[in-house]
Amino acid sequence: MKKIVFLLLACGAIQAQAQTKLSVKQMKGLADESLRFSAKQYKHMMQSLPDSLFPRSTNKDGSLMTAKFNWWTGGFYPGSCWYLYEFTKDPAFKQEALKRQQYLLPDQYRTNTHDLGFLMYCSFGNELRLEGNQADKDILMTSSRSLIQRYKPTIGAIRSWDHTGWKCPVIIDNMMNLEMLCWATKNSGDSTFYKIAVNHANTTMKNHFRDDYSSYHVIDYDTITGQVFAKKTHQGHSDASAWSRGQAWGLYGYTMMYRETKDKKYLDQARHIADYMLNHPRMPKDLVPYYDYDAPEIPNAIRDASAAAVMSSALLELSRYTGKAESKRYWNAGADALASLAGPAYRAKEGENNNFILMHSTGSMPGKSEIDVPLSYADYYFLEALLRYKQWAGK
Ligand code: GLY
Repeated sequence: MKKIVFLLLACGAIQAQAQTKLSVKQMKGLADESLRFSAKQYKHMMQSLPDSLFPRSTNKDGSLMTAKFNWWTGGFYPGSCWYLYEFTKDPAFKQEALKRQQYLLPDQYRTNTHDLGFLMYCSFGNELRLEGNQADKDILMTSSRSLIQRYKPTIGAIRSWDHTGWKCPVIIDNMMNLEMLCWATKNSGDSTFYKIAVNHANTTMKNHFRDDYSSYHVIDYDTITGQVFAKKTHQGHSDASAWSRGQAWGLYGYTMMYRETKDKKYLDQARHIADYMLNHPRMPKDLVPYYDYDAPEIPNAIRDASAAAVMSSALLELSRYTGKAESKRYWNAGADALASLAGPAYRAKEGENNNFILMHSTGSMPGKSEIDVPLSYADYYFLEALLRYKQWAGK
């Protein structure tokens, strides 16, 4: 009976995505309007942000939460400024990105974090894409060399955290750091980076995913044998649950790995993850997930707009690699999630929300931190998805 109910609900979800909420013309108009709004909002951010710091979220007292260069989210604000520069051609955004990136420079040498892709590729990587500077290449090569210091050959994966309490934790989020390594091989001709990225993706595919293609957040490995020691969560509801942003990181990561390798197993993995999300009976109608697909408070659970933004951007890309019917379904779902985020329920009003673009993201529910707040990475992937929509719609 349970199975039949799931299937009926899943079919309902698919039906709902056969058509987008908005026509391509309306959606393009909304994307332009959202980008113009975001540019205005980030001009306010630029003016209110203390020197040398990065916007992170909102504090419990309502004030702007900032972070230093060494917090994992430092690359998103300059990256968002690059996206806004790409759209507006307003030099103020380029100046702001360059100014903030100066503070990120020490990160390229860090070997105590796996977040170097987020930190450096979202910032300097976007500068390189738009401006083509040799200096960016040098910084990204140094960052890639630092990142692969964390690769554990016995496990076949890059270690995530150095926190105590774990043996060798690898989190699903770490898929996002592989794009920089793929770039490093293309740039240098040294296949080491690419091979590590591929090994990491393969190990993650083998150990992080359940039969239904939902993923664990953290796999803790035994450093001596390389075997799985424990399957856990850190930011999700429970070890056995599906933390929404984790599912989105996985979707984005395998879509990107297919783009970089053309290995069909990554495409299939991304399709399966997308189907898990889109067919999920607890995926809300507006396609902005609850913070965890298994949150016991559903339907009253807190949402995570950041998961929706990452998912939307990834679905728009995935739709370019699949067969016609699937492609339409992924594209429409990506567009619908984007339209929801661009609507009044999730997009802030000008000058509010500490000048972030999106509201209603969740950092860590079990950690009781950053709950129902803006987050810099929600804004970054929202802007990326808006630009992707504009670039690929009708193509
Ligand atoms: N990488 C940390 C997070 O997604 O919260």
